[in-house]
Amino acid sequence: MRTIRNILLLLAVLPFLPSCEEEGMDVRDLEIPDNYALSAGTSTLFVNSSYAYDSPADWLSGTYESRFIRGDKLYDDIRTSSNGHGGGLGPVYAGYSCGSCHRNAGRTKPALWSEKGSGSYGFSAMLVYITRKNGAFFPDYGRVLHDQAIYGVQPEGKLRTSLRCETFSFPDGETYELCVPGYEITEWYADSIAPEDLFCTVRIPLRHVGMGQMMALDQAEIETLAARSNYPEYGISGRCNYITERGVKSLGLSGNKAQHADLTVELGFSSDMGVTNSRYPEEICEGQSQMQGGSMMGLSYDQLDISTEDMENVDLYMQGLGVPARRNVNDPTVKRGEEMFYQAKCHLCHVTTLHTRPRGSTLLNGTGLPWLGGQTVHPYSDFLLHDMGSEIMGVGLNDNYVSGLARGNEWRTTPLWGIGLQEKVNGHTYFLHDGRARNLLEAIMWHGGEGEASKNLFRQMPREDRDALIAFLHSL
Ligand code: HEC
Ligand code: HEC
Repeated sequence: MRTIRNILLLLAVLPFLPSCEEEGMDVRDLEIPDNYALSAGTSTLFVNSSYAYDSPADWLSGTYESRFIRGDKLYDDIRTSSNGHGGGLGPVYAGYSCGSCHRNAGRTKPALWSEKGSGSYGFSAMLVYITRKNGAFFPDYGRVLHDQAIYGVQPEGKLRTSLRCETFSFPDGETYELCVPGYEITEWYADSIAPEDLFCTVRIPLRHVGMGQMMALDQAEIETLAARSNYPEYGISGRCNYITERGVKSLGLSGNKAQHADLTVELGFSSDMGVTNSRYPEEICEGQSQMQGGSMMGLSYDQLDISTEDMENVDLYMQGLGVPARRNVNDPTVKRGEEMFYQAKCHLCHVTTLHTRPRGSTLLNGTGLPWLGGQTVHPYSDFLLHDMGSEIMGVGLNDNYVSGLARGNEWRTTPLWGIGLQEKVNGHTYFLHDGRARNLLEAIMWHGGEGEASKNLFRQMPREDRDALIAFLHSL
């Protein structure tokens, strides 16, 4: 069946190939449907370097451009008071700037594999969520473990990771290894929490590819996908996460469990870095025993560490980033891999084409970005939650952590645009929410639950086709 299709395909393509080469034409126009040429419409960037995630889209100009530049600086600012931008880091924190975890607007190499946790320099580039076994927060620690602290203050604790690995094989004999991370927290600053009462789950940062497009998405299209995209023959049915904050119900889009409706600028400054702001005016360690009296390190509560205008500049920076165009789209292996991507039904969750609403997106304080409106985009995600199972090695992709409507085994389909450049941008190929996959193949083989049938279609392919599918992912 497939051979017949391939011959037909070949026959269809053959007459074009020689003539294109002769005339030196760009064969892309002939072979690729128009709407696949540009990943993010007018925000598509033809940058193929380590700055591929971190360059402005072409539509930025005038005050928007200067605000983008300021936002970029604030994003990478380590928030010590002496540098002209502003202070406020800590006293306890998880990262020292947004860019410390999202290096080059990507994913800083997590310390999971190399340093086995908080590491010798103490910075893990990961977020550690902690609760009691019953789901309640520890009053003395909060939701995130802050394993860093400014001079003179103790970090809340240190993360130690371990890995349990097992070898598996494809029907054709090729082997692969999957590893599950385990966590332990040591050096608690105060009362040690008994391991029996500690629940802990870890995330590596997400890439910032397509943040503006994600915020501008036509949300009705996502909701329609959730209502209609039911593929019982493959066991797939996605659903929306909703967040109700300050009485307003909104669709969750960002974060590994689609647990946030916006780009978490206020939360990131507060919860990840200890930078107080109008939305979160209290220090995150408020109430900790080492903070008693509020006088530690001469800390003053009356002044917020960052203004709302500057937070909007950071929001503008993220939404104004360009999306890298695909590469090697005419490479025969990549084209074959693209076909395999559809054959393995990856596209039923990693949805190739979505649209942005006509008016574009809105920043934190209401500034509109009409340039992001009315675009056809190719994020390779439905932004919906899927049950990814819990069978593989006894745990699968289930962290037992509930985020809004998302259960432990439910995850937002990670957008794949730009994924092929992660190695160039960040120097590593760790994937999935906690970085347990060391490469794309392992990431695919962790798919279970609703992803099981698709994973098995991939598993049963001849090795050549599996390799082609991975070559296609590298072209994204
Ligand atoms: C300690 C490391 C760390 C710091 C510092 C940090 N982040 Fe993150 N960021 C993460 C992790 C980890 C995730 C994934 C969280 C999850 O899904 O639970 C994330 C997710 C995000 C997302 C969601 C992206 C998506 O595709 O859905 C955005 C947007 C974001 N961060 C923006 C920021 C901004 C803005 C700052 C600075 C104010 C910041 N981050 C600081 C680690 C960090
Ligand atoms: C049922 C929906 C579903 C299907 C089908 C599916 N995926 Fe996924 N995919 C997801 C979800 C959800 C995640 C996030 C899981 C996590 O981080 O734990 C993900 C993550 C990934 C990642 C890691 C991305 C990153 O940056 O960390 C890759 C690569 C990937 N999928 C490729 C594929 C390929 C290739 C196929 C087809 C063989 C496929 N997926 C089929 C839902 C799906």
